[in-house]
Amino acid sequence: MDEATIRVGGEDRIDLPIIEGTEGEQALDIGNLRRDTGLVTLDRGYGNTAETVSAVTFIDGEEGILRYRGYPVDQLVRESSFLEAALLLDRGELPSRAELDRYEEEIGRHAALPDGIASVLESFPAGAHPMQKLAAAVILLRPYLPEAGDPTDTESARLGAVHLMAKTAALAAWSYRSGADRIYTEPRPDLGYAANFLNMMFNPGDGAYELNPAHIRAMEALLVLHADHGQNLSTSAVRLVGSSQADLFSAVSAGILGLSGPLHGGANQRVIEMLEAILADGGDTRRYLDRAKDRNDPFRLMGFGHRVYRNFDPRSDLIKHHARSLLHEQDDPLLDLALQLEQEALADDFFIRRRIYPNVDYYSGILYRALGFPSEQFTVLFAIGRLPGWLAQWREMISDPQVRIKRPRQIYTGYPRRDYIPIDKR
Ligand code: SDX
Repeated sequence: MDEATIRVGGEDRIDLPIIEGTEGEQALDIGNLRRDTGLVTLDRGYGNTAETVSAVTFIDGEEGILRYRGYPVDQLVRESSFLEAALLLDRGELPSRAELDRYEEEIGRHAALPDGIASVLESFPAGAHPMQKLAAAVILLRPYLPEAGDPTDTESARLGAVHLMAKTAALAAWSYRSGADRIYTEPRPDLGYAANFLNMMFNPGDGAYELNPAHIRAMEALLVLHADHGQNLSTSAVRLVGSSQADLFSAVSAGILGLSGPLHGGANQRVIEMLEAILADGGDTRRYLDRAKDRNDPFRLMGFGHRVYRNFDPRSDLIKHHARSLLHEQDDPLLDLALQLEQEALADDFFIRRRIYPNVDYYSGILYRALGFPSEQFTVLFAIGRLPGWLAQWREMISDPQVRIKRPRQIYTGYPRRDYIPIDKR
């Protein structure tokens, strides 16, 4: 095994082992650094730090590669269903026909929501964001399912994952309907995952609603594309909270709330808001590009840039393809504007030098809009897609014999010791 030597103050302090992953990625294993040298490392935003090893998803940000358990994501989008991809992520192998049938049957059997959920969803104030409602509703499942989601019991952990895969789409659909027309369409697992979700979201219950096969295909593709992405913020939140042995529902709720931020999963909603603002402002893309480049302007080009991808995000191209094929009959000014803005940004030296490309959120909002979703639901759709990734990463963590509670160090920069001053003497 290769090693690296840490020299401090001119003296050799320690030889650190270098570990190598299956794709040639290398890391300094600093597990004994503080014990042997008294030093810790400082890495704001973890841009240089791997917190774990993982066999779930491989990302090569330089080459724009994304694979789930070794399978390229574009093949899975083309060939796989969302539930098949979920099983692959969780168990590490493509399921046999019998395994997939058993899983689909179990998901269908647990699809119904517990009584009382609807009244809780209706109790939210009108302005509650769907991501906050979803996070709260997921936590609410726990008291109804006390036998599920215990990380210290294999079957309970498995059952918790099944219930979340079975119920989260309905929780999302019902939380949307509780704010709109209060007609809850019961889950129809027989339709298939994506079709059932679209039916629960949009079927008004008067029998007039027809599922559009092109919409089902696009929804399935979006779900598979979002299914996992390594140690992104929301997955890291699930692992962090899960490392305290909190129940699975609590860990996933933390992931949902982490995903809601505009710099992470919340970007898809902000992309549409940005494009609508540019359109309303006369379509002056150059002015918005200049704002994004101005260090004194907090405006960022939403849907652009990525911590890992320093090349194109393979998911963005796949979503753009689906958006174009779904919208080829409709003349969507937002899609035209998005294509123009992308072209101008990719030709602009500021973005080229910083290797800033469209990410998964850039075109997903346009496709979600074409499927009929309101923009405040977009990040909920991201959460439903990312759920199998959270579950697979959580299970990988709780099954790891080397797992420890996650507790980063810090470098203190506050006051040195000082004595209390009574208030009348301040
Ligand atoms: C997701 O991690 C994952 O895998 C996430 C995700 C997943 O599947 O889970 O892929 C999903 O979160 C996608 C990202 C969605 N967020 C957005 O689209 C928001 C807009 N993007 C930026 O805020 C930013 O690019 C981030 C947050 C995505 C990445 O931030 P980093 O890695 O901390 O990069 P940075 O802020 O240090 O930027 C480096 C430089 C800076 O300029 P300088 O200080 O060098 O002059 O690039 C600039 C930044 O100002 N920059 C941008 C920009 N993104 C980076 N400038 C304008 N617009 C942008 N979008």
